[in-house]
Amino acid sequence: MSLTETIQQIYPDEVYNTLVQIGQIAHRLGLKAYAVGGFVRDLLLQTTNFDIDIMVNGDAIPFATQAAKEFNAECKLIDRFHTAHMYLPGMTVDFSSARKEIYEQPGALPTVSLSSNITDDLHRRDFTINAIALSISPDKPFELVDPFGGARDIERKQIKILHAKSFEDDPTRLYRALRFADRFNFNLEPTTEDLFDTAIAMNAPATVSPKRIAAEIDKCFQEKRPLTLLNKYQSAGLLSFFHKSFTRLKRPAFSFCMVKAVATRLSFKFKNISENALFWSLLLLSIPPMEAQPLLNASGLPHSITNTIWNTLTSFASVPQKLIAANDKFSIYKTLSEATPETTGLMLLCFKQPEITSKLNTYVNELSKIKPAISGDDLIEIGIAPGPQIRDIFEQILRQKLNGIEMTRKDELDLARRISGI
Ligand code: CTP
Repeated sequence: MSLTETIQQIYPDEVYNTLVQIGQIAHRLGLKAYAVGGFVRDLLLQTTNFDIDIMVNGDAIPFATQAAKEFNAECKLIDRFHTAHMYLPGMTVDFSSARKEIYEQPGALPTVSLSSNITDDLHRRDFTINAIALSISPDKPFELVDPFGGARDIERKQIKILHAKSFEDDPTRLYRALRFADRFNFNLEPTTEDLFDTAIAMNAPATVSPKRIAAEIDKCFQEKRPLTLLNKYQSAGLLSFFHKSFTRLKRPAFSFCMVKAVATRLSFKFKNISENALFWSLLLLSIPPMEAQPLLNASGLPHSITNTIWNTLTSFASVPQKLIAANDKFSIYKTLSEATPETTGLMLLCFKQPEITSKLNTYVNELSKIKPAISGDDLIEIGIAPGPQIRDIFEQILRQKLNGIEMTRKDELDLARRISGI
């Protein structure tokens, strides 16, 4: 089957038409356009990938600007890198200018210059399977440009670097090699494997910033089976470059396997629960608590996530004891609702003792959905002044409802009047 036929078979026609139209826009501007990277690799693996990377042999900025106009789409231009992102329904299209890279220092980001030669651009990439281009220009529609044998390596199911200094130049490729091997069930090609081992023996990732390593760990959590990959990172010694304590994960493997299931279960009750924050919190239980905060600060993860992780880790240190001591439903509710929903998730993952798990399940299945029927505005309307008294009233209403007393809206308002003495 030709690649045109494969695209037409595995993708909705919007993807095919988008590629053809982008190729035509490039042609009108006197440029050659190619799909590159994960999209082409996944096409050869006959799987879909809706993050489409387009490379042109010239400046991508005017090209993306014109494309966004013709697609009537939102587009974000990043002048400094000569790249742009265009958002289309169901897919994102990233535009880049063909580049050449020079690594002046191992581990640091490279010096980049524009190049009109597409092989230069493919040569700067990590593995042969990611260094394939697919022409989308109308004169060469859907023709592969594969100077490094990427298609052959996909057939051989192997991850192969392009040159001997690749891991040294960019040690994040060590993480990426294991990630792609795990995802596609590929092996490292023998020379690549030797160079992989050498790079680790030489502590190559020590030159990489915690932010870039955190980004790799974060990508691991987004894989279908994060645990198998996490184990591979750990056995290769790659986790300990993020923190020395990660030579051993303190939590049982089983807990990591359950993160997605627990996050999905809790998402029915708590809209904002973050599976990602739950993964990170579980991982960070393996290091001394005081060291988690500086590590999170250096991780480059979004603040909203690092705050959630930190609050979860802090609560995790005290909530289990409080929960054991909680002897009515209101106390269970109060203990858990004052912590992040991820704390409940983390406890479900880490504790097996019935005196904790039964209370966690009661909270999740029963208590978390009990709410007062009235709102703060209702209380203000009946003449109660805004302030701490409103919080006390809600607490009392909840205490009664959680402990099984049925209350109508009117009962709640009556109780509020009684408490406030109006
Ligand atoms: N790339 C690279 N070296 C890196 C990161 C990226 O060579 N350290 C190149 C690869 O050619 C890769 C492309 O940039 O295909 C896009 O990178 P990224 O989006 O991280 O990877 P994908 O291959 O699209 O993988 P995924 O399916 O995980 O998104």
